[in-house]
Amino acid sequence: MKAFQLQNSFGLENLKLVELPEPSPKAGEILVKMKAVSLNYRDFLMVSGKYNPKQKLPLIPLSDGAGEVVAIGEGVTTWKVGDRVMGAFSQGWLYGAPSRNTLKTTLGGPLDGTLCEYRIFPEYGVVATPEHLNDLEASTLPCAGLTAYSAIFPFGNIGPADTIVVLGTGGVSIFALQFAKILGARVIVTSSQNDKLERAKQLGADETINYNEKQNWEKEVLKLTNMKGADLVIEVGGAGTLSKSIACTRPWGIISLIGVLAGGESNLSLFPVLMQGIRIQGVIVGNRQDFENMNRVLSAHKMKPVVSQTFPFEKAVEAIQYLKDGKHFGKVCISIE
Ligand SMILES: NC(=O)c1ccc[n+]([C@@H]2O[C@H](COP(=O)([O-])OP(=O)(O)OC[C@H]3O[C@@H](n4cnc5c(N)ncnc54)[C@H](OP(=O)(O)O)[C@@H]3O)[C@@H](O)[C@H]2O)c1
Repeated sequence: MKAFQLQNSFGLENLKLVELPEPSPKAGEILVKMKAVSLNYRDFLMVSGKYNPKQKLPLIPLSDGAGEVVAIGEGVTTWKVGDRVMGAFSQGWLYGAPSRNTLKTTLGGPLDGTLCEYRIFPEYGVVATPEHLNDLEASTLPCAGLTAYSAIFPFGNIGPADTIVVLGTGGVSIFALQFAKILGARVIVTSSQNDKLERAKQLGADETINYNEKQNWEKEVLKLTNMKGADLVIEVGGAGTLSKSIACTRPWGIISLIGVLAGGESNLSLFPVLMQGIRIQGVIVGNRQDFENMNRVLSAHKMKPVVSQTFPFEKAVEAIQYLKDGKHFGKVCISIE
């Protein structure tokens, strides 16, 4: 089978298309023909060696993918040949809180990922693909979709009277916009580009702010909320944006700390956090049970992930570069037909 692999060293230039033996499932395992995979910023960091410099090589990157069961091992009862499935981001984190060990069972590092034609999963390592989604759409769910779902549903504590601020228009952020609109919340989206803000409006964004044109965007949020502040901020910028997010969150509001697109180290003042009782909630994707709960929401509302760009398998390196350049809106996918 064909796969993309980092062999001896990190770097996009070292991600090579290789030929590997086609695996066959042992007892309790299934073989999935991968049909589509999607990219997360984490994949770029992983390939560059910045996510985990101690990651062992060789590595097949990418955490997210969808496909079809083509063989089952002895004793497998949950799946049959022909079932459409998606891999769970953390293979060993099935429900409840994660343990340090289950957090080490993630696809695309430390475990081999999905950028390959065939992949073995344990029976419990996949969930069923919602019927209304094609494989490209489904491939976007395991990391970006579930992260946004976790931030909005289990951790977000929001409803129709609440205002949510979504930073940027990348994969996680656009899912967060869609989930927040399902709950009837008011959503403010920020972006560096006006055409992306127009697209966000078409998806239901109530207010938009260009954070390049209005660098004090937190003040705009305060104005838009009659100086009350947002109930929830979907924080993907990290160190570079967190102090502004804190400044525009209402007392007792929540900041879902998800990403580090604008830096991961900070010496920000903690006073506003404690004086206003703001909850900074770290979010790390989610467990298998919440993956299934999210899929029920998607199916009930016929919600479709936003795929802005699809590359052929052979162009995987270009696809990762495209993601890194931030040209996309929503998700970037790779088709493996
Ligand atoms: N904790 C978790 O479980 C988890 C899960 C998934 C992702 N993440 C992290 O979350 C972040 C987003 O991931 P992603 O896959 O959604 O990334 P992505 O699709 O690559 O998102 C990129 C977009 O983020 C926006 N952005 C960049 N810098 C920004 C800034 N300073 N302020 C506001 N927006 C900014 C830009 O939007 P515009 O072009 O509109 O300006 C950019 O296009 C990454 O750091 C990723 O590692 C964490």
